[in-house]
This record gives sequence, structure tokens and C-alpha cells, in this order.
Amino acid sequence: MHSFRAPGRVNLIGDHTDYNDGFVLPAAIDLECVVRATARTDDLVRVTWLDGDAGSGRYADAVRSVLAELGRAPIGMDAEVSSTIPVGSGLSSSAALEVSLALALCDVARFELAPVELALACQRAEQRATGVPCGIMEQLASVSGRAGAALLIDCRSLEVEPIPLPDGVAIVVVHSGLPRRLEGSAYAERRAACEAVAARLGLNALRDATPEQVADEPRARHVVSENGRVLDAADALRRGDVDRLASLMSASHASLRDDFEVSTPELDALVEALGRAGAAGARLTGAGFGGCVVALAPSDGAAAVAERAADDYRRRTGVVPTTYVCRPAAGAGALA
Ligand code: GLA
Repeated sequence: MHSFRAPGRVNLIGDHTDYNDGFVLPAAIDLECVVRATARTDDLVRVTWLDGDAGSGRYADAVRSVLAELGRAPIGMDAEVSSTIPVGSGLSSSAALEVSLALALCDVARFELAPVELALACQRAEQRATGVPCGIMEQLASVSGRAGAALLIDCRSLEVEPIPLPDGVAIVVVHSGLPRRLEGSAYAERRAACEAVAARLGLNALRDATPEQVADEPRARHVVSENGRVLDAADALRRGDVDRLASLMSASHASLRDDFEVSTPELDALVEALGRAGAAGARLTGAGFGGCVVALAPSDGAAAVAERAADDYRRRTGVVPTTYVCRPAAGAGALA
């Protein structure tokens, strides 16, 4: 029996940029999915959840079919899955499931894929399983994570540059308590709107647009300004300038709320509550329409900041949030 782990991720900055060939700055986190697998002599793939099923069947089928298209032999396996990543929270529980299952499926069939190829295969599996035309961020972050570091990813070249998070800084994640609503159709609609502007401008992707070209197009304006913020944020992180990073994160939330229109009243309330509680740079993270907010706080006070923000938010909205203090974790791989 062999075991494989794959982490979830939280995105510090750079949302709705990955499918525009742009830049993102996520970190793999210390919440993860673990798959224990044994090869079978037939071609059956059996997946058992140790703690409640989370709809893994369609993901396993999708991962297996994509790997078969890439040349993996049809060798079956019995797999036990367990995960500490809350399902449907926007912390990439499905990407971690896909990546850990893919590693196990490759292992039992002695099939090898380079890390980037594995991430691309899992992205395709996610699209197939959910019908959502997602980008590469989640799967590539899960594969490429580095302990203690955020990852600057160029979603065109798929190059990954780990950039250490300064000592004493913690990543606070608060789940708004509301599932991501309308994500499927609204996500696809946003992606199509971006591609339409790029096509009208005669560009391959909005990555190549200038701020002047998109000045009157709020959706595209978000993408272009967000790409700039990600590169500035990576610079700030390299210099250890946490204040600058935080102010770019706050500007990112405003742009996602006002130009890209993927925030909700609850996410905005949570961002404000985190600010009042003493966190810096609070912003919605991931697709939006619900899910999580990310912020920065001093490591020694992070749990208290998160609790204060959660109490405040609960009092104002009546919704019960969940808090996490995360550390950047290593990417997916075999467990000893
Ligand atoms: C979802 C997708 C990602 C990315 C984000 C928004 O999480 O899976 O590819 O597009 O939304 O940044």
C-alpha cells in the first residue's frame, strides 16, 4: 500500500487572472487530502472515504479518464481517501483530491508525469467533473507548494517561483459560512466576458492588454490591474514589505468587488470585520460568490484576530464562520 498527500491552497492575490494567462500568488496550505492505494489485478477503481463521502466518484472517474488519454495503462486500485480540507470552501478540496488520486493512479500503473503535466491533467479532470472552465492555479499550487513560501505563478509559461513569507506573518483564512453560490454559471460568464474583450482587441489573452486598452471595460480592467498588483505583491514579498503586500491585497478586494463583481455582502462584511479585528490586507480569495476571505496577521496574535473577526461577523450577519490560521506547506507527493 502506498500513500500520497496533496495540499489545499489559499490565494494571497491574483484572482480571475489565471485563465487570462496572467499571474497569481497562492500558497499551498497545511490542510491536505491523503490517498492510500493498493493496485488491483483488474481495472476497477474503488474509492472509499474514511470520513464521509464528498462526491469523490465523479472526480475519480474524471482523473482516470484524463490519465488514460495521456497513456496510463488501465490498472485498477483500491483507494482510501481522507481530507482535512473543508469541502466546497474555496480552499481547493477538489484539486487536492484530484492531485492525490492522480499520484496514486500513476503509481499503481507505474506511469510517470512531470509535475506541470500532472497539474494540467488534474485541471482537465476538474473541468470534466464539474463543467466549470477553471484555470490552472489550484492544481499547480497543490503540486508546487513550498513550506514557508507563497508561489508566484506565471499562468502562461507555468513557471513557479517560491517566495518565502517573512517570519512572524501568519495567513488567516475565514470561511464566510456561505457556500459559493452560482459559481458554475457566473464563473463561466466572467471567463467568457474576458475572452470576448481579448478577442475584440485582437489579443491572445487579457495578459497582453494595457490599462489604456481596457479603461472602459470593468471586467477586463480588473484583470489587467490585478496582474499588476500580483507582480507588485511578489516584489513586496521579496523585500519583506508586509505593509505593501497588505495594501495591494486590499486593493485587490475592491477591484473584485467593484470591477469584477464577484463579492457578496457577507464577504464584504467579513473583510471589514477582519480589518476592525487588526488583520491586514483582507480580501476575498478564489472565485468569489461566497467561500473564504484571506488576510495577514502577526503569527503570535493571529488566532485571536481571527476569533475577534468571526465574533464581529457573526453578530452582524447571523452567519457562523469558520477560522483557520494557515502555514504555507510543501506540494503534493508520496508519504513515507
Ligand atoms: C477558481 C478556479 C481558479 C481561479 C479562481 C479565481 O478557484 O478554480 O482556476 O480561476 O477561481 O481566481
